[in-house]
Amino acid sequence: MNSALLLEHLRELIRADGPLTVERYMDIALWHPDWGYYATHQPVGARGDFVTAPEISQVFGEMIGLWLGETWQRLSAPNPVVLCELGPGNGTLMADLLRAAAVAPTFRQAARIHLIETSARLRSVQAQTLAAAAPTWHYSLATVPTGPLLLVANEFLDALPIRQFERGADSWHERGVGLTADGALSFVRNPAGATEELPDWPVGSIVERRPAARDLAHDLGCRLAHQGGAALFIDYGYFPPAPGDTLQAVARHRRHDPLRNPGTADLTAHVDFAAFAAATTAVGARTWGPVSQARFLKALGVEIRARRLAAGKNMQQQAQIESGCRRLLDETQMGTLFKVLAITGADAPTPAGFD
Ligand SMILES: C[S@@+](CC[C@H](N)C(=O)[O-])C[C@H]1O[C@@H](n2cnc3c(N)ncnc32)[C@H](O)[C@@H]1O
Repeated sequence: MNSALLLEHLRELIRADGPLTVERYMDIALWHPDWGYYATHQPVGARGDFVTAPEISQVFGEMIGLWLGETWQRLSAPNPVVLCELGPGNGTLMADLLRAAAVAPTFRQAARIHLIETSARLRSVQAQTLAAAAPTWHYSLATVPTGPLLLVANEFLDALPIRQFERGADSWHERGVGLTADGALSFVRNPAGATEELPDWPVGSIVERRPAARDLAHDLGCRLAHQGGAALFIDYGYFPPAPGDTLQAVARHRRHDPLRNPGTADLTAHVDFAAFAAATTAVGARTWGPVSQARFLKALGVEIRARRLAAGKNMQQQAQIESGCRRLLDETQMGTLFKVLAITGADAPTPAGFD
């Protein structure tokens, strides 16, 4: 029902003004206030459409909590410090990292919890999960209080809409979403040449650009360069830059056609870590990595933590802890595709995990 209404809305927009850019299509399919994916679905978790690292194993959030406490120490323990999460989903990562951070009570006492979240549904889930932490919500970084900042974001950048460009024989052309003769959504190519500066990849290549990530990198980079702190981004993506169509849709833990039943599937695309890092260093920040998720978590001692957690548990619980940890680290699962990038001010010491 919602999907049929959203599809009709998209058809009307295309009939009135021509094909939508992929960026606008993603934005409407994800964020239409009544029929968009985030207004109508519970995205994250076993009962949702996809599972993220914090939902797989508590050791993920615990390692991030230890990293934040250690980074806070390395930054000379600013008090107070803003501890902010971008796109907290169910609030699981923040809950786990705060539990781990409690081993450093001075850090926990200094931390003021702020969450950046646009989904009203997920805000109410976070309000329940994180009631004890008394967080403050924001729609963007702009309203997060100034001062030293520790920021974490897991699978946030991949959710931001992308633009896609196809290399034709003559020049690059933006990809869009139009209609077939019988009214189905289909990818089309804007006949006018793209005005963006794009790399010299072979004819037929597709490249992706993510304006919202570039704007965030700019604002965050300026802030870390001038006010101090550190940010940690964990996501799936590529480094160095590469061509390719990475737009994907997932519903009920299965791949979906991104143009079928809009509003019923989560739409994401791989993160271009080089582009994101470059937009922060351009304004005076410093980046570390990206390193693979496996390398980062192992450097922080995730395997030791998982063994300790399993000790004294029954066999079924031990097997669950072990398989969760393997899923985070295994090369064929999340260990290599997922990468970790840290951003700090120019003079900050090397963050843990990036030595
Ligand atoms: C894929 S989920 C990841 C959830 C969580 N970080 C985890 O690891 O389980 C993406 C999260 O980012 C939020 N989000 C997406 N786009 C956003 C935006 N432009 N501003 C703020 N939050 C956004 C979503 O509502 C959701 O909470």
